[in-house]
Amino acid sequence: MMQSKINILIIEDEQFDVHRIQNTIKPYKDKLILKDVVSDGVKALQLVKDSDGNYDVVIMDYQIAGGIRGEQLIIKIKEIDPSIQIIVVTKMTINITDYELANSLMNSGAFWYCTKYPGDIENYIYQPTDFIISILNAYEKRRLERLSLRSNKKLNQNIEELLRAKKIIGQSEQVQVLRKQIEKYSATEANILISGETGTGKELVAYNIHYKSKRKFEKFVIVNCGSLPHELIESELFGYTKGSFTGATADKMGLFEVANGGTLFLDEVSELPLSAQVKLLRVIQNGEIEKIGRMNNLKVNVRIIAATNKNLEEEVKENKFREDLYYRLNVIPLYVAPLTEREGDIIMLVDYFLDFFAKEMDLPKPMLSEEATDLLVSYNWPGNVREIKNIVQRLLLNTEGKINTGDVKFALLNKNNKSYNGNDSINFWNGGEFLTLKDMEKLLKEKYVSFIRKNSKSDAEAAKKLGLAPPNFHRLCKELGFK
Ligand SMILES: Nc1ncnc2c1ncn2[C@@H]1O[C@H](COP(=O)(O)OP(=O)(O)OP(=O)(O)O)[C@@H](O)[C@H]1O
Ligand SMILES: [Mg+2]
Repeated sequence: MMQSKINILIIEDEQFDVHRIQNTIKPYKDKLILKDVVSDGVKALQLVKDSDGNYDVVIMDYQIAGGIRGEQLIIKIKEIDPSIQIIVVTKMTINITDYELANSLMNSGAFWYCTKYPGDIENYIYQPTDFIISILNAYEKRRLERLSLRSNKKLNQNIEELLRAKKIIGQSEQVQVLRKQIEKYSATEANILISGETGTGKELVAYNIHYKSKRKFEKFVIVNCGSLPHELIESELFGYTKGSFTGATADKMGLFEVANGGTLFLDEVSELPLSAQVKLLRVIQNGEIEKIGRMNNLKVNVRIIAATNKNLEEEVKENKFREDLYYRLNVIPLYVAPLTEREGDIIMLVDYFLDFFAKEMDLPKPMLSEEATDLLVSYNWPGNVREIKNIVQRLLLNTEGKINTGDVKFALLNKNNKSYNGNDSINFWNGGEFLTLKDMEKLLKEKYVSFIRKNSKSDAEAAKKLGLAPPNFHRLCKELGFK
């Protein structure tokens, strides 16, 4: 039998009936503990409130004196403690076939209800063994509900933590509007298209929308359409079954299937080849995926958030992107403004990342001189927030105490050779501190990759010249702040 004791509260105004309950459960008095007995609803509510979750099961009479009773009392008790289980006992004479009353009690939140006595056993409530079994079942339900409440609370806490780490910093008008839009649209199920320059925070926005939506306990799956080789896109998105083509040695789940119930983030959606666009359109229209090699289609329920740093309308005009797909994705358009349109956020972001990385690297947070601040604000940040993040990390690594203009110039110079010297050669020394070997390696990588990109017609060509697979090339470019 059960291990723990079951704490019971009785709400009953007739001493004789209290006695019958006591008598009925007597054989189990070590397990079923009659904690308290009260005769009216108001007192009962006070006790439940004060007990702080200590009662497991309430046994209440339906007809008691006082203002609060019946369904109203059940609802109020459940408001205080949603997992408490309530057993209602009623006079047999009126209720034996009263289905309406039974329904109304259950709808109010009662666990079970029974009549007081079945004829000649006046010292007992209902059928004694059934009555006891109901208390045990009520307790089991209480236990399970509490467990699930606890794990939901934990999940919610985890999500709050995730969101704290993915906070959208900024006080400009644009960011304030964006935050409001995120609140509003995360409550809907509509597809969203986020546009904006590189590094402005599109992925961050998508993340916030998912984790504030009803789908927050489900998966958030990110697909970078630009980094998948074209010939693999369809099998990545839609999957295939074993044996559907040579090399398909096992079933493969597509990302749509993985994201089922949750959100799929299609980053750089403009890079999808036209053949995949057709298939994507069909999935959105029919809510089904055509898995390669599968006879019948597979139903999926996925919310799509897409992002692009291109002007998709232009791509549509140039027939590079399907118009019908564009409208399906762009149900709600969101725009993330570049920093040139919201200079006011620059210093706030710099300060936020200084604080963040100083803590992470266990360094004291340095001060910024006024001139250094001016320089940071006047810089045009082509890589937007991602670039600020990188520069701040560099500043923290290379300066101690106070950050001056020289430090900022040096960080920007190493980061973005275009704005300070137009050539691809490397200066070993710029008049400041010497670079560590690691920083020099990174600088060399930046300059060389940038040089190769300038001398290639496409990313695929650049990747080939560098001897890298396209996804690795893509990752490297992101790392270096080129994308
Ligand atoms: N407003 C912001 N507050 C805090 N961090 C931000 C903000 N905007 C962007 N970031 C951070 O900057 C980095 C780049 O953002 P993100 O990856 O979302 O940009 P993106 O628009 O998707 O860029 P891309 O077009 O290159 O994919 C991320 O580390 C992100 O967390
Ligand atoms: Mg992105």
